[in-house]
Amino acid sequence: MLATLRGVKWAGDGDANSGAKLFQGNCASCHSASAGGSKDGYFPSLFHNSVTGSANPNNLIATIVNGVDRTTREGQAYMPGFGGGPHDLNALSDTEVAALAPYVRTAYGAGADQPPVLAEQVAVVRQGGPASNLVNVARACLAAGALLALLLAGWVWQRLRIRRKLRRQIS
Ligand code: HEC
Repeated sequence: MLATLRGVKWAGDGDANSGAKLFQGNCASCHSASAGGSKDGYFPSLFHNSVTGSANPNNLIATIVNGVDRTTREGQAYMPGFGGGPHDLNALSDTEVAALAPYVRTAYGAGADQPPVLAEQVAVVRQGGPASNLVNVARACLAAGALLALLLAGWVWQRLRIRRKLRRQIS
């Protein structure tokens, strides 16, 4: 299986093996070809991993795009992000991450029948994740406030018009 995947160029969306190819090309060097990680545990196994086993793929997408860079008691744990920078040859596109993430989840993590990941979903995570509820609430308040101001202005204008009309009738 591996020999058929190694060094094969990614054929694009619709390629049944695209997730496996992307994994062997980008992730296997550290997490090992079978995703079991390294013996010393520095490169973690992707089996029984909360990120690959979660019902929500967003953490996995974020890990792929942003990588990991954290200080542990043993030293620095570092995984490069595949989100891309100006000179990053390893960058994965939204479509590629959308093919890779369900493969990793199905093969090593959450198990069979994982729903597909859409490129749009990857784009949202790349931007920093879905807007929090607080932001949505703030937006709704802003819209409600604008509507209220508009209604108030309309009401004042109406009152002025009526008053002017009455004054004209009196004189
Ligand atoms: C250069 C080595 C390297 C490569 C390449 C690499 N990783 Fe990692 N990865 C790591 C290390 C080291 C950690 C452990 C970080 C830690 O201990 O928090 C890690 C952690 C993870 C985790 C677990 C994150 C967590 O918070 O527990 C996942 C999932 C993962 N990698 C997936 C991938 C996928 C998918 C790819 C391919 C796109 C990939 N990795 C490529 C080194 C690598």
